[in-house]
Amino acid sequence: MKILVTGAAGFIGSHVAEALLKRGDAVIGVDCINDYYDVKFKKENLGILNKYPCFVFYKADICDFKAMKKVFDKENPEKVVHLAARAGVRPSIDNPFIYEETNVKGTLNLLELAKEAKVKSFVSASSSSVYGNQKKIPFSEKDNVDHPISPYAATKKAGELLCHTYHHLYGMKITCLRFFTVYGPRGRPDMAPYMFVNNVSKGAPIKKFGDGKSRRDYTFITDITEGVLAAADRELEFEIINLGNNKPVSLNEFIAIVEKLVGKKAAANEMPMQPGDVDITYADISKAKKLLGYYPKTRFEEGMKQFVEWYKKNRF
Ligand SMILES: NC(=O)c1ccc[n+]([C@@H]2O[C@H](COP(=O)([O-])OP(=O)(O)OC[C@H]3O[C@@H](n4cnc5c(N)ncnc54)[C@H](O)[C@@H]3O)[C@@H](O)[C@H]2O)c1
Repeated sequence: MKILVTGAAGFIGSHVAEALLKRGDAVIGVDCINDYYDVKFKKENLGILNKYPCFVFYKADICDFKAMKKVFDKENPEKVVHLAARAGVRPSIDNPFIYEETNVKGTLNLLELAKEAKVKSFVSASSSSVYGNQKKIPFSEKDNVDHPISPYAATKKAGELLCHTYHHLYGMKITCLRFFTVYGPRGRPDMAPYMFVNNVSKGAPIKKFGDGKSRRDYTFITDITEGVLAAADRELEFEIINLGNNKPVSLNEFIAIVEKLVGKKAAANEMPMQPGDVDITYADISKAKKLLGYYPKTRFEEGMKQFVEWYKKNRF
C-alpha cells in the first residue's frame, strides 16, 4: 500500500510512518516542520524515516491546497493517515487562529484531495479534549461532545464533523481516532511526561497544576501506533473511536513514578489549574477493542521506564 502520512516529522506521525515502512508499505510523508517545538527533533525523526527506501518526504503546508494537490497528483496515495495538526491546549487559547487554520482548513484540504484521489481509507487524528470537562467517566464515543473548553478541542471536533460530512456525501471510508495523552520515545517536549523527566533530571522545578488529584489516561506510543494501523487497514465506513489506556493516573502518582525512574526528588511549584485544563480524562476503549482489535499492552510505569531510557540516551 502507498500511504500518505501528514505530520510525519512529528511524534506520533514518525512512529506511524516507521511502523508502516517496517511492515513493507510505501509512505509519503508530509510536514511543514513548524517551530512549535525545536525543529531539530523533527529533523531527527525524519532522519530515522529517510533510511527506508520506500519513504519519500514533502516539506509542505497542508493549508496550501495547490502544494498538497501536487503531492496527491504525483504520488497517488491509496490511503491517508492525517496526523498533522497544531496540538496543545494552552497555546490554542493564546493563538486560536493558527489552530483553526491548520486543524480545520488543513483537514478540509486533505478530505477534498483524498476524495478526488478516491483513497480506500482516511484516518484522522482527533483528541480526548473533545470531551471537555465531562464528569461522566469513562468517556464513551456515545457521549455528547458539544461543550469543548479550548479552541484546540473545538477545532478537533470540527475536524470530526468535516470527516462525517465527506463520508456522507462521497461515501469515503473515514475513521477519527480520539487519542488520550500519548507519551513515549520521541515524545513532544511541550508535554508533561517530557517536561517532568527533563526538569527532574536537571534538578529544575516542575510546574504542578492543581492539587495533584487530577487524573489522565496516558497511552503509550506503540499501543497508539497499533491502533492507527488497524484503523487504516480495516477500512471502516465511518467511525469515531477512542484510543486510550483505560487506566487514569493521578498527577501525584505520575510525579512519584518520575522521581523513582529518574532517581531524584522533584521540586514542584504548585500553581492553579489553567483555563482549558480538564480534571480527568478516562477512555472507554470497548469500541476500539471490538472494531480494531485494540488492546493496549503497556502499563504506565513500564512505558515511562522506556521513555526515561530513551531520554537518557537521546536528550540528556
Ligand atoms: N500527543 C498526544 O498526546 C495527542 C493527543 C491527542 C491528539 N493528538 C493529535 O495527534 C496528532 C499528532 O500529534 P503529535 O503529538 O505527534 O504532535 P506533533 O506536533 O509532534 O506532530 C504534528 C506534526 O504536524 C506538523 N504540522 C503542523 N501543522 C502543519 C501544517 N499546517 N502542515 C503540515 N504539517 C503540519 C508539525 O510540524 C508536526 O511535525 C495531532 O493531530 C494531535 O492533535 C495528539
